[in-house]
Amino acid sequence: MQDMGNDSIQHLENNAVLILGGGPVGLLLAVALARYGVRSIILERNLSTTKWPKMDLTNSRSMELLRRLGLTEGIRNLGVPATTPYHVYMITGLHNKAPIASWEFPCVEDLRDQYREENDGTSPQEPWQRISQAVFESYLKKHCEQNPLIDCRFGWKAEKITEAADGVSVMATDLSSQTPVTFFAKYVVACDGASSRTRRDLQIPLEGGPIPGYALLVHFKSRDLSKLFKLGRFWHLFIFGKSGLHGAVICQDDKEIFTTHLLLPLDADHESIDSYDAVYRTLGGSGEPFKVAIDEIIVRSAYRHSVAVARSYRSSGGRVFLAGDSAHQNIPTGGYGMNMGIGDAYDIAWKLAAVVQHNGSHVLLESYEQERRPVALQAVQRSRVHHDVHTGMVEFLAAGAHLVEEDSDAGKSLREKIQQHYTIHNGENTDTGVEMDHRHVSSIYPPPSPEDGQPPSWDPSRYAPSTFIGCRAPHVYLKNGDSIFDYYGPHWTLIQFEDETHSQASNTLLQAAQQLDLPLKHVILKEEQHAQQIWKVPLVLVRPDGHVAWRGHEFPTFESALAVINIVGGWKNAPLQETADTVPQVAALLGAGSQVVDQVADYKLDKMGVMQQ
Ligand SMILES: Cc1cc2nc3c(=O)[nH]c(=O)nc-3n(C[C@H](O)[C@H](O)[C@H](O)COP(=O)(O)OP(=O)(O)OC[C@H]3O[C@@H](n4cnc5c(N)ncnc54)[C@H](O)[C@@H]3O)c2cc1C
Ligand SMILES: *[C@@H]1O[C@H](CO)[C@@H](O)[C@H](O)[C@H]1NC(C)=O
Repeated sequence: MQDMGNDSIQHLENNAVLILGGGPVGLLLAVALARYGVRSIILERNLSTTKWPKMDLTNSRSMELLRRLGLTEGIRNLGVPATTPYHVYMITGLHNKAPIASWEFPCVEDLRDQYREENDGTSPQEPWQRISQAVFESYLKKHCEQNPLIDCRFGWKAEKITEAADGVSVMATDLSSQTPVTFFAKYVVACDGASSRTRRDLQIPLEGGPIPGYALLVHFKSRDLSKLFKLGRFWHLFIFGKSGLHGAVICQDDKEIFTTHLLLPLDADHESIDSYDAVYRTLGGSGEPFKVAIDEIIVRSAYRHSVAVARSYRSSGGRVFLAGDSAHQNIPTGGYGMNMGIGDAYDIAWKLAAVVQHNGSHVLLESYEQERRPVALQAVQRSRVHHDVHTGMVEFLAAGAHLVEEDSDAGKSLREKIQQHYTIHNGENTDTGVEMDHRHVSSIYPPPSPEDGQPPSWDPSRYAPSTFIGCRAPHVYLKNGDSIFDYYGPHWTLIQFEDETHSQASNTLLQAAQQLDLPLKHVILKEEQHAQQIWKVPLVLVRPDGHVAWRGHEFPTFESALAVINIVGGWKNAPLQETADTVPQVAALLGAGSQVVDQVADYKLDKMGVMQQ
């Protein structure tokens, strides 16, 4: 990085990006920027990555993006083995003789086979992966430290963020020497988490609110697996008592690391609860505390769920962007938090890279919020829906949790009702619409042509494969077994399914891209009828993030091709299409009767020791 001679002011080069926060989103953003050849500095206040497990599921869409960054293998090696199935059990406590209801998902290896077999465009390129956030972050950090384009500064705290016309200044402190340094950068991305300093300094409201109650989390090591896995090897346990959801357990590594969540009323004093007792109480559910041998209590914390989305994803001057939890917060049910953040990071990364390398205009940056905020609104709302499936159990257990275990007809019929409830409401880990069907509407998409018709209707529970403009292009295996996604270039890709008519025409899109300096890889796929059937049209222009920018049956005239490239590169604005009516408003995130407040994070349990190091 360029130093202007003054010790206390550090100017970043014009084509470098300053990242505030080295959580999963900040670290991943740096990797993605580096992949596009862009330098970055990460400022992270902590000396090391998180000790808290937090996220345990990297979903299939994130895994696809991580694959583009060459990270999937490393992550799978560190995560739960590919042969472990992902089982979720609903119980009233480990004293149960058998789970009351369950969701049973195949292991990664079987999912891979299943996806290959289906090959109808509905499946992702990569299955999901269980890996604890503590492991995920430390892996990413090592990766960042080895990359010469990334200056990874842990132990640096951002104190004040101010935006000027020509850049952003960030007052920071090197905590090891208590030296203040002011950084000056053209672009800043705030990945500084739920209580984002940046968001507050720039006065961007975070709209939403907390949901009732809070959880005491205990993260521990135990090899007492005959007891813990008494009802079967699990991924999650949801545990119920008379008043509904009592707690949950996450098996983090399929070996020895677990987290219990004990739900408490707002007025409870979590500090008076001993960590061991919290574990036993959680496992015991509606019955007596259930003791297991604990080898080590790793860490504990109290955590309050909020659902919230920032009103804007960028500063008024357009130089600071919010990504990850600084932009949105959700309930962990569904596991959308970090996954949304990964999507944010990838989106802003390729756009910033194009802008600082002059392969696109600043309009690309405006599209970041237009594209990512609706995705967050949908996922945040859905996390609430999934959460309510569990709280809905109160209805079944109101008469007493013991009935559910009885051999009587009443007990049997109650179990059947609960099983039915969970069979119908199984979206928590199967909502592929929310996870993969991100329909972008923004100013960098040319309007669809009349022959495009209508996109398939959006359904949160089902990904609908489509190459309609704005959709993530469907994944499909080609005849030789290769994944179509692996044919994408590093930047833009023109996929052409070849038959005679097209091989004759001149490639006006490639010519237009060359004229405007938009890096475009041209891929010709011959005799791939199956893939073409799923992709519908012979010509599809795919963006660096795998979303369809344009599609057609034949090459447009050179003039029209220029117009398309002008729009997708942000040089010329397209008329903005309306946001789909499937995108909820903020008030809908909270449900009836809740009040929308600004700056939810202020309200988060700072006093209860929210996850802070
Ligand atoms: C119990 C639980 C379970 C979850 N399960 C899942 C799941 O299964 N799947 C999923 O996708 N998500 C899950 N999440 C959510 C996930 O943990 C978050 O969405 C994710 O951590 C967000 O990443 P981030 O990088 O945006 O923010 P954070 O992880 O909060 O990172 C922000 C970083 O910025 C740093 N920072 C803050 N302020 C400053 C400053 N002033 N200067 C310098 N550095 C600063 C912080 O120290 C921190 O390292 C879960 C969360 C919890 C609590
Ligand atoms: C920008 O274009 C140049 C030249 O075509 C290319 O080397 C570079 O990788 C491109 N960067 C991005 C982010 O598009």
